[in-house]
Amino acid sequence: MIPVNEPLLGDRELEYVSECVRTGWISSAGRFIEEFEEKWAAYCGRGYGIAVSNGTVALQVAVACLGLRPGDEVILPTFTIISCALAVIYNGGVPVLVDCDPRTWCMDVDQVKSKITERTRAIMPVHIYGHPVDMDPILDLAEKHGLAIIEDAAEVHGAEYLSKRDTLHSAWRRCGNFGTLSCFSFYANKLITTGEGGMVLTDDPVLAAKTRSLRNLCFETNRRFHHNELGFNFRLTNLQAALGLAQLSRIEEIIARKRSMGAEYTRRLASIDGLELPVEEAWARNVYWMYGLVLSEETGMDAAAFGEKLKQRGIESRPFFLGLHEQPALCQRGLFLHERYPVADRIARQGLYLPSGLALTTEQIVEVCDAVRGVLS
Ligand SMILES: Cc1ncc(COP(=O)(O)O)c(C=O)c1O
Repeated sequence: MIPVNEPLLGDRELEYVSECVRTGWISSAGRFIEEFEEKWAAYCGRGYGIAVSNGTVALQVAVACLGLRPGDEVILPTFTIISCALAVIYNGGVPVLVDCDPRTWCMDVDQVKSKITERTRAIMPVHIYGHPVDMDPILDLAEKHGLAIIEDAAEVHGAEYLSKRDTLHSAWRRCGNFGTLSCFSFYANKLITTGEGGMVLTDDPVLAAKTRSLRNLCFETNRRFHHNELGFNFRLTNLQAALGLAQLSRIEEIIARKRSMGAEYTRRLASIDGLELPVEEAWARNVYWMYGLVLSEETGMDAAAFGEKLKQRGIESRPFFLGLHEQPALCQRGLFLHERYPVADRIARQGLYLPSGLALTTEQIVEVCDAVRGVLS
């Protein structure tokens, strides 16, 4: 079976992790954490990085920083992982959904404006499967209405967006550069992994201090075991940061490999009828975190049937996200009643992603593409 993901870990990862074991710095203090935070923030062009235990809690703590009042609204795409909605709900807010763009599968930025009310506090753009959201319209709306941006960049390490807001200086900016607070996951299938892990980035020293405090139980700095606020234990370990820092030292190589895998897939699949493949808009640099495809209904198959046939040929795949408006756990709370998001519905039904891990070889890509062609012919 060709797995959907297999991480590629090297000698430096082993060396750094061994150092933690040798020196006993295995918990949430140690040199690798600060260095990983500083280097990741610098890589994304941000002032502060706060490492946390995963991408889900990165979102949760970022939204916590906004201090939502009950009923405050956050606008986000329906086509995303449930973590995004949980971050809003756990903080007493209400997730308000928009559909997604049929080409990039990211949030449809044209729908955001009509969802803004006097209760809206933030917009949460989520970059999907390696492709950036069209950020300029979101930045404009946030500025105009005084909204925060909680950017979810879990799936797009190193992806770039060409911002044209300043007409004199249109510039490529890395994802993770746009949010009031920007969030990452370093789960094992991400471009940079710490096994489990996440990070919040910001340029605001007050928000950085707040995130840091919330991450560590809101310990008061000058009076140990004294707490004025309710916090969390969302700490990352030095062991995990060691892994991340080792990975970060070869991020350019990792991105180049992902982009070449994406190009190879597209080259081999483009001539097959009935497939919609990932795009790279002129304003985007896609890192092809996961190589997705959407099957045309004319194939007579949905993604579940197609995935089953690929499995029979030794190829693992994963279905696309199910829209948040279809999640029983959310609908049972009375959310999203009678709301319709046809683009997300279609790609959830017809979309899946193919093996995309860094350990995937070109021979395996050929094998996967042959299997796709075989199933469809
Ligand atoms: C867009 C997005 N946000 C958040 C997360 C949550 O990250 P984690 O699995 O580290 O909690 C993921 C996970 O893959 C994700 O894809």
